[in-house]
Amino acid sequence: INIILLGPPGAGKGTQARILVEERGLVQLSTGDMLRAARTSGTEMGNRVAEVMDRGQLVTDEIVIGLIREKLSEGGNGFIFDGFPRTLAQSDALGHLLEETGMTLDAVVEMRVEDEALVRRITGRFTCGNCGEVYHDETRPTKEPGVCDVCGSTDLRRRADDNEESLKTRLLEYYKKTSPLIGYYYAKNKLKSVDGLAEVDTVAAEINSVLKS
Ligand code: AP5
Ligand code: ZN
Repeated sequence: INIILLGPPGAGKGTQARILVEERGLVQLSTGDMLRAARTSGTEMGNRVAEVMDRGQLVTDEIVIGLIREKLSEGGNGFIFDGFPRTLAQSDALGHLLEETGMTLDAVVEMRVEDEALVRRITGRFTCGNCGEVYHDETRPTKEPGVCDVCGSTDLRRRADDNEESLKTRLLEYYKKTSPLIGYYYAKNKLKSVDGLAEVDTVAAEINSVLKS
């Protein structure tokens, strides 16, 4: 199956995508991760992207659609779109790309979390630079301080855009440009909403249950 995880910054899209990968063997396509990989490449595109991301603004549709097109052409049996699409233009492009490759979109899972909780989640987040595991200072610390539970790496990082200033811009971008997608997919009969405020395992169970319905 192919699903979109839709929600504001810090809603838990990345966290749930990793669980779905484990449980269902789907491929996670996170445009945020792809863009962060591009920026470390030192290419011209990477440098342009870095500046925009750090401010908390959206990267151009052209760039992210290109990244997704490339990944879809590699094939796979089921994708989780995490952080994509984020604009109506991106939604349309995804529709066309799926059609071209003979795939269908099964569900769009909207993760609802209120703004105050988002701020706490984002400012406490850190991730493993080696395996990508996502942690939180309070709700999900590593068992041993400074060491990733999953792979043992000590390369634990915080994102440059995880500060209050950039987060404000990211939230505005979400409400202005991405939240209209909720209505768009509702009208297409694809929308399923879950309470993203619950604990990680509870959210995962709710996602499994809406995917069955
Ligand atoms: P991106 O990387 O997609 O960031 P985002 O949408 O802001 O989402 P986050 O990764 O911040 O949050 P998340 O929902 O994945 O939450 P997580 O699971 O980590 O995008 C970054 C930037 O790239 C954008 O600003 C833009 O510039 C650019 N970009 C990316 N895609 C683009 C596109 N399509 N078009 C244009 N530009 C694009 O969880 C957050 C924290 O909460 C963690 O610490 C976690 O441990 C904790 N947590 C998770 N779930 C729970 C829970 N249930 N209870 C308690 N804590 C929890
Ligand atoms: Zn790790």
